[in-house]
Amino acid sequence: MKPRTSGRGPGRRTAHASRSAEDRAAGVAGRARTNQVPDLFFRELIANLQNGIIAITRDGRLALMNEAAYRALGIPVRAADTGRSFAEVLRTVPEVVRVLRGAFELNHLPNRAEMRLSRTGKAIGYTLSLVRDGRETPLGAALLFRDLTRVEQLEERERLRDRLAALGEMAAAIAHEVKNPLGGIEVMAGLLRRRLADHGDAQAMLSDIIKEAKLANAIVVEVLEFVRPIRLQVEPVHLPRVIVDARSLAERYAAPGAIDVALHLAPQLPPVVGDANQLRQLFTNLLANAFEALGGKGRVEVTLRLEKPGEATGPGDPPHRMLVAEVADNGPGVTSEERERIFNPFFTTKPSGSGLGLAIVRKIVDAHDGRIDVRAGLDGLGACFRVWLPQDPATLPVASG
Ligand SMILES: Nc1ncnc2c1ncn2[C@@H]1O[C@H](COP(=O)(O)OP(=O)(O)OP(=O)(O)O)[C@@H](O)[C@H]1O
Ligand SMILES: [Mg+2]
Repeated sequence: MKPRTSGRGPGRRTAHASRSAEDRAAGVAGRARTNQVPDLFFRELIANLQNGIIAITRDGRLALMNEAAYRALGIPVRAADTGRSFAEVLRTVPEVVRVLRGAFELNHLPNRAEMRLSRTGKAIGYTLSLVRDGRETPLGAALLFRDLTRVEQLEERERLRDRLAALGEMAAAIAHEVKNPLGGIEVMAGLLRRRLADHGDAQAMLSDIIKEAKLANAIVVEVLEFVRPIRLQVEPVHLPRVIVDARSLAERYAAPGAIDVALHLAPQLPPVVGDANQLRQLFTNLLANAFEALGGKGRVEVTLRLEKPGEATGPGDPPHRMLVAEVADNGPGVTSEERERIFNPFFTTKPSGSGLGLAIVRKIVDAHDGRIDVRAGLDGLGACFRVWLPQDPATLPVASG
């Protein structure tokens, strides 16, 4: 081990020099210790990090890139990449190349910074460091990073949940206050109808008042139902069966007319853990919306499949494997401004809609720890609602090794 040189001379310069000498000594000690641990340990350490790591040499070659880095950046793993120009290996992610290049130009290297990859839209959180030798000469640079997309999604979901909770509380309070006077109107109108038995005109008007009061009451009941927290009766649920049932139910609410409905439900798919009734309601609401959007003419396709590798919305490990159900139509679709709002309670573009259908859908998806989004539907037209639901962990294949 090198002798310690700290405290040998006076003044600031020396203080600084002594600190770096100490650091260097510690570094050397570290290096000496590494001799007792096989290189394999360090290779495995890097390979098994959950964070992505990319290291480059001063002359611009790739020194190492672990699997997490390849995965997060969507680049196929190739052992032969080591030693090649890093800009060449990372050409599909120019933002990363730019950050790595900055390592030898910037005075202050970014720490816990963020960038967005233009190709995939992924948010990446990263820290850049220089790799120096014992004399502080840069040998290369290392980028340690993490895919923040999932974190962003969770934050967005949290924000939405807060918004819904606030809206729900307000709706519950209003509904509660409105329920009593509505009941009063109905009772009084009933009494009046009895007293004015011989007045034909008054009878007709009072009947209308009672009918409208009943309708308003039904909406209030629906709102109160919506804001009540969901209690799931969880069991392994076979989704193809649920979707077939949902189709029949949706046809009762919204006549499909000449709509061509195709179900692509691979029957051998594993079950999900969930509440069959709630899931049936979820798909009924989505299908009823599709039928209503098409107005009796068009195409609806429901597809059920296991999440593709790389499509993972969860951490991606087998215990979080998801089933993805897509309900797509070729109707008028949803504009980008509407996409933000359609899941909010009471948002509706229909004269007789309550705007609770999709709010309930989102509530059920959330209760199942799933996820939902909407994008363009069939042939680039219409809407496609994608629902991710966690696969039943009991049916997962046992990991080998
Ligand atoms: N498949 C779809 N195609 C086009 N627009 C849709 C589709 N599904 C939903 N929307 C839009 O989202 C809005 C909200 O849907 P949601 O199901 O929450 O309420 P609603 O259908 O209007 O009323 P409710 O379901 O309560 O009877 C709809 O009014 C419609 O504008
Ligand atoms: Mg609806």
